[in-house]
Parts: sequence; C-alpha cells; structure tokens
Amino acid sequence: MTVRFKEDSNHLTLYTKESSYQMQIDDHGVLLHTWYGAKIDDRASHLIELRDRGFSSNPPDLVPDRTYSLDFLPQEIACLGNGDLRDFALDVAWENGTHALDLRVVNYSWEDKAPDWGVLPHFWSDKDHTLCITLKDREKDLYVHLYYTVYYEYDLITRSLSVENRTDETIVLHKAASASVDFPTQDWTLLHFAGRHNKERARQDYEVQQGRFKIYSSRGVSSHQHNPTVILKGPDATEDFGPCYGFALVYSGGFDITCEGDQYGQTRLVMGLDSQNFSWPLEPCQSFQTPELAMTYSGQGMGKMSRDFHKAVREHLIRSPWQNRPRPIVVNNWEATYFDFTGEKLLEIVDVAREIGLDMFVLDDGWFGARDWDDRALGDWQVNEKKLGMPLRDLVKEVNKRGLEFGLWVEPEMINKDSDLFRAHPDWALTVPGRQPLSSREQLILDITNPEARRHVTDEILKVMAEAENVRYVKWDMNRSVLDTYLAGADRKSQGMYRHLYVLAMYEMTQTLLDAYPDLLLEGCSGGGGRFDLGMLYFVPQIWTSDNTDASDRVEIQYGTSFFYPPSAISAHVSAVPNHQNHRTTPLKSRGIVAYQGSFGYELDLTRLSEEEIAEMKDQVKTYRGLAELVLQGDYYRLTNPFSGEAYTAWSTVDPAGKKAILSVYYHDLKSNYPNPILRFKGLLANSLYELSLDGQVLGKFLGQTLMEVGFRSAYPEENYQAFLYQVTLCE
Ligand code: DGJ
Repeated sequence: MTVRFKEDSNHLTLYTKESSYQMQIDDHGVLLHTWYGAKIDDRASHLIELRDRGFSSNPPDLVPDRTYSLDFLPQEIACLGNGDLRDFALDVAWENGTHALDLRVVNYSWEDKAPDWGVLPHFWSDKDHTLCITLKDREKDLYVHLYYTVYYEYDLITRSLSVENRTDETIVLHKAASASVDFPTQDWTLLHFAGRHNKERARQDYEVQQGRFKIYSSRGVSSHQHNPTVILKGPDATEDFGPCYGFALVYSGGFDITCEGDQYGQTRLVMGLDSQNFSWPLEPCQSFQTPELAMTYSGQGMGKMSRDFHKAVREHLIRSPWQNRPRPIVVNNWEATYFDFTGEKLLEIVDVAREIGLDMFVLDDGWFGARDWDDRALGDWQVNEKKLGMPLRDLVKEVNKRGLEFGLWVEPEMINKDSDLFRAHPDWALTVPGRQPLSSREQLILDITNPEARRHVTDEILKVMAEAENVRYVKWDMNRSVLDTYLAGADRKSQGMYRHLYVLAMYEMTQTLLDAYPDLLLEGCSGGGGRFDLGMLYFVPQIWTSDNTDASDRVEIQYGTSFFYPPSAISAHVSAVPNHQNHRTTPLKSRGIVAYQGSFGYELDLTRLSEEEIAEMKDQVKTYRGLAELVLQGDYYRLTNPFSGEAYTAWSTVDPAGKKAILSVYYHDLKSNYPNPILRFKGLLANSLYELSLDGQVLGKFLGQTLMEVGFRSAYPEENYQAFLYQVTLCE
C-alpha cells in the first residue's frame, strides 16, 4: 500500500510520490518542522541545533535551559508572542490587548478525505488523506487546528488552519495566515510574478538574504500587481533540474507573502490573507478558517513543478463540467465595437463568425441600462432593447439561428453613481461614513456583504438570463480595487472583517449563478488578469488572462501565468492590428500561434477583415480544433524565458502518452545576422520515431531522442514578430 503518512517516535511524515514533509512533536509539545523536500525514509531532526545564543529568549517552562529558543528553531506554525521574532502566521490579541501565543500539540488524527470548507475554495477529493494536528495555547483554551491534505500522485500538499476560541473572552485575530514554512538554508531564489494592468505576472527573481521581502495585494483582489504564488528555487535549479517548491494560495482577495532570511542562514515563508486590512474578532465558541495554501516540491526543476500544479488544478480544483470539454471558439465584441453597437452590427459580426466557423458570440459590456460609456449604469441589469433594436432573447435566437452559441458579459460587484440602482439605493455603494468614496473608472463597489444588495443584483442577472433563454457562457468582470471598506452596523473591532467577507460574498454570488446554471461556461475576468488565482478557478474553468492582447506582450504574460495555471485556464484571443493596447502590428499567423496556447478565441471586428484574413482565420480555426485537446489537457513545457534577452521564446505541449506534440516559437526581438536557433522538444518517447512537420509540410522523421537531445533548426523569420508552429506525430 502507498504510504502517505507515518508516525515514528514523535515524527509525523507526509509522503507524496516524490516528496516528504516532516514534523516533530518535541519533548515540550512544540511542533517543529524538520523537513520538506525529496522523499526520505528517515527522520531529519538531526539538523535541529540547540545552542545558547545571545538575545534569543527561552520559553518560561524550560528555564534554566538556555539552549532552547523559538527564535531560531524551525516552527511548523509561527506565532507572534512566543520569543520567535521572525515573521509569523498567527497574531492573536487577548481581551486585555496583549498579543501572545504559545502553542503546544494536543493530538492529531489522520482521515481519509480532503476537508470541505464550504464556499471557501479548496482542492477536493474523496480519496486523498488529511492530517489534522491540534495545538493549544499553553495558558488559555485557544486551539489551532492545522490541516494537511496529501494529493499523492501530484506531489501536492494543501495546508490551512483554523483557530477555535474555547476561552470565555473575545479575542481578535490580527493575522491568520494559511501557513508558515521554514527551511534550514538561505541559498534560495524566490520567483514571484509581478506587474500591472496590461502587464500581468512578469517573472521576477529575488535572491533570499537576511531581511524580510514582501509581496502583497491590499486591493481586495489578488491583483494585477502581484500574484498569490511564489517559487523557491534551489541555487542551480532550472526548468528541468534541481529542487524547487511552488506555493499558491487558493484565494481571490488581498494577500501577504513574506519571505524572510533570518540571522542564522535559514528561510521562512509565510503566506495568507492580507493582514494589513484584517482583524477578526472571535467570540467564545467561534472559529476562523483560513484559505488553503497549495504547495509542491519538485526535485526535477520548475517544469515538473508546473505540470504537477496543472494536473492537480485540472483534476482536483476546477469543478466546472467544462474542465474536460473542448472550449467553444468565441468571438467577443469588446475590441470590435466597445460601447458603440446595435443588434444589427453584432449580427453582421456573427455572420462572418459563422463563415469562419466559430462556435460562440460573446456580447461584452454595454448591453444594459444607459451603458453607452464606462462611467454609467453599472447596477442597472436591464437589457437596453432600444440599443439592440430587439429583446435580448431575439438577439440570442438570431445568433443561434446562425449556428453560434451566445455568451454575455456582466460586472455584478459594481455600481455607478450615474445609475438607477444608485439613485434608489445610494447606501449600497461601499462608503466610509462621513467620507466620499474613492472613484475608479468612475465606478464604486457595490456592498455585496449586504445580503439585500447581493441578492438584488444576482436576481436581476438571473432574470436577464432566464429571459434570454439560451445564454451558455458568462464573462464575470470586476474593474476596480475594493477600497473604502465599512462593515455597516458592525462595531470598531469588526471593521477589519470586511475584505474577507467581501470575497466570501463574491464566491457565494458566483456559486448562486452556477447553481442556477450548472452547465454554464463561466469565465473570470478583472480588467483582464487582476483576479487570476486558484480561488477563482474553483468556480470558473478559465480566466481572461489580460486586457493586453498584443502577441509579443502576451508571450510574456502567458509565460508567467504558466508557472501555476494550466493552459486550459488561460483565455487567449486574436485581436486586431495595430494592437489597441500598444499599437504594435504583428502577423495574423503569429497572433494565432500565441493564442493557441490557451482557450482560444477572437476579439476584433470581423466585418472589417479582408478575404485573405477570413481565409486565414478559417485555417486557424481548423488548426486549433485539431490541437485543442492536446493544448487543454497536455503536458506543458516552457522551453525558453522571454525575459532572458533572447530573440525568441519557445514553448511546447506534449500529449501525456507521448503520441504527438507541438512546439511554438515566437520571434519578439529579431537580431541582425541571427543564427537559426536550435529547438528541442521535451517529454517525447526517446526510442520512438516521429514525423516532424511545419505548416503541414513534412520536414523529416526523427527519433524522439534526436528531437529532444540534438534538436532541429528553427525556420528563419523574414520579419520580426513571426511565429512558427511545429508538430510531431508518432509514426505508426
Ligand atoms: C475589462 C475587461 O477585461 C475587458 O475585456 C472588457 O470586458 C471590459 N472590462 C468591459 O468594460
């Protein structure tokens, strides 16, 4: 039988296929962290060093032993107020205002399924196993339950914790991170994914050193600026070799990630909710559950780490029935018309879409209320029949008649001042009493923590969908940060609950929509990729990756996104040139090859295309249909790093059985007199013979080994921004 958990002389070890995670309950009941990394049969507690160190305090119950200090011992869960002065996961304030926590193990149990946190997103499974360790404060009846679920085949472990107040006082949680993880060394590079609107998830490498490095979002959403994911990479680790750890929060709100190099050459990572905007009172008998943290160890570089994440996310996080289905190839009218359309204009686009062979038309912003510009009508979810020239149901029917499905854009979490909803319920706009709310895109946050406001908007949107009769896809957008938070009717101590309650309310609204339409293809969006996280993927199978649709920029954005998120989650469209975001002109073929990397579609005015462009798009659609299963379910390989200064970027997807693969190469910075680069596949069957082709032209037959070790030379681009798509298929 596969061993997933072992107890051995107070050591608790979790096993995945290729990793071990080990803790020790020491003689004092303190839960030490002894190992996370390559699979070991033994114990690793011999690394723990007890020494009398200046200025490191000793727990009161151990005096006069001066060698034991939480200031340097590796902790399983780091707390404020026990002599550990590194960063911490838990900060509890008692009723008298003091902050202290000294946790000791009470018991532990091993269960045969993953926990269910209700509306709080989580990995799920009824086969995988969970360790729950309960600790208690040494002085008071405050309990902390640590949860670890082992997804054995995926080398993935999820962690979370809950704090249970069994005292008779009301305490306040000032910080409740999902986990802290200690490492005995400091020779790590921390990779994180930073950016801004239109430049999401650009890889950044930070050399860990003594001090505290923090990435965060205090925007109420996971954000364009930082993604709630990091990698700790060993000194020589690459895509294919060496140790690395991937950590991802299963959460869509603000977050904190700190990586601290301590004074003794150790490293601590703490990940969880945005603590700057958090405080959570816990009355007697109440508990608080944190979001989950998913983590994986790979001894074979970052490529394997990503593929483990992709598989686990596809098979144990995303619940949508669309997860395993080919996605419709859509045309979205946003960049085609913005707010300036009529039903007739839309149907002209649909006519061309039909000719090209697309599956779905998506009506973006501007179909409701007086929404002719972005400063008005959010909240007025009534179809603007005058603008459409017909009821929405008729438009849907016309689209269906032309053989396409219909999709609709919504932005339920918002309200404009210039809206009937605001005029009727000004108090539903999130505002700090006595102040004017901050405006962003001239829109305000609808206070969805107010059940009445939440229900009203959800009902209105459901009504539109019911009347339209056949809406098969919804794009759920969200275009500003959650600021001006005020929890109406709550006391001073409870104001710090707002942002987390907001995220829970958003999850609940999303779930209500899915309960009403279980087969709906729901796409997440927040000004493109401002809420691209594992929390959203629990509800939606794909997310609009960025408002930036330029092929060159998308290569970088999709590269960064690929470290944790499977290609099937990456919504990618071909748009017009010059590109609307950066005015760059790239060939249609390249735009297609870049968008083939995910869930593919179009986002431009099809009625303005030339005959040649239409013909080329027909080919693109045929090509993508042939590749869709491979792209959406295959094993993904990053072959180069677009930030490395090279002239090109390459990536590849391989069928898990090794029968076929594609390799794409995009030239974003062509140099003069440039040698044709040598490209190499990964993940093929070494001793099998493959046929290599480019644009349907066979280039030769090669052993998998040759294609992986020797490689082949890329075609030479005639101009910058050209791309090539190579395919290999196994010879019968
Ligand atoms: C931001 C989205 O990312 C765009 O795709 C588009 O839907 C606009 N919002 C509409 O306002």
